[in-house]
Amino acid sequence: MQNSPPGTIEIPQVGYGTYLVKDAEAASLVQHALRYGYRHIDTAEGYKNERGVGLGIKAGMEELGLSRGDLFVTTKLWPGNEAWKQTEKSYQSTIDALNDSLGRLQLDYVDLYLIHAPVARTRRLEQWKALSELRIQGKTRAIGVSNYSEKHIQEIATAGLPVPEFNQIELHPWSQKPALVSYLATAGISIIAYSSLVPLSSWRAVDGQHSAKTDDMKAEGDAADSPFKLMAGKYGVTEAQVLLRWGIQKGYAILPKTTDLERMRKNIDLFSFEIDDEDMTAMEAMDRGPGLAWGVGDPVQMD
Ligand SMILES: NC(=O)c1ccc[n+]([C@@H]2O[C@H](COP(=O)([O-])OP(=O)(O)OC[C@H]3O[C@@H](n4cnc5c(N)ncnc54)[C@H](OP(=O)(O)O)[C@@H]3O)[C@@H](O)[C@H]2O)c1
Repeated sequence: MQNSPPGTIEIPQVGYGTYLVKDAEAASLVQHALRYGYRHIDTAEGYKNERGVGLGIKAGMEELGLSRGDLFVTTKLWPGNEAWKQTEKSYQSTIDALNDSLGRLQLDYVDLYLIHAPVARTRRLEQWKALSELRIQGKTRAIGVSNYSEKHIQEIATAGLPVPEFNQIELHPWSQKPALVSYLATAGISIIAYSSLVPLSSWRAVDGQHSAKTDDMKAEGDAADSPFKLMAGKYGVTEAQVLLRWGIQKGYAILPKTTDLERMRKNIDLFSFEIDDEDMTAMEAMDRGPGLAWGVGDPVQMD
């Protein structure tokens, strides 16, 4: 379990991410993830796979003799985005959304419920109040946000509402967000890092999986002298393990996603090596600023 600020519930350091995992494949993949030792499963209303994820959790718990308390399950509210011609969810439809997610997951509660992104500009605070109510009702153990900047969190604090316990954001050596990370530490908000594997050539490499990654970036990942390839050779691990271990050493919870069972097994095998200070310093210098997971040109306005 990760060290968390006082008052924050503990979260497993390595979770299994399920974005782009199809509902029909989710049950088997989640069951495998539990077999390999993953105890945090991250899904979302927007991933349209909560039904399969829930079946996998159920099957894995039965097979491995786990109790619900052994697991940490996160799902996310899709807040509605007017730029996508969607209705922004109200207080009541936010309450209904978690109840619907719980129904699909076949769970009585989740461990963490997040607002997926700060896109519902006129209803963000209303949605946050509903999350607070859902925690009081015991439908979720903790509440948090995702893709929130300091400004969005200040909006909550200024309204006199409890600040989030977690912020799930894109973090890897190419997008390190030092100012936001330092603000979150000061505010006592735990970080969950997503898209840790962005610098790999294999990251969302299948056609149609849009992101802001350029062809040049993909080629960099393939280059024989890629710094992550060199580090992987030095530590005798995969490049993915180097990138994931970076997140662990930064103190973040991480969420690698894969549909490949061998990758899945290795992506949680992160505790038999340590990246040395020299390489951590070299990685510190690789920051390129904004993240890549939400594709450029997406009409997602996060202001
Ligand atoms: N809150 C948000 O807005 C948000 C946004 C993005 C992601 N997330 C969460 O974070 C999770 C992880 O992020 P992500 O899915 O963007 O990316 P990721 O886990 O960083 O990378 C996944 C990609 O890397 C490939 N991959 C995985 N393991 C590998 C390995 N060992 N070697 C080589 N390639 C490997 C996968 O392909 P294969 O599947 O073919 O192996 C896939 O294309 C998501 O699943 C989701 O749960 C949240």
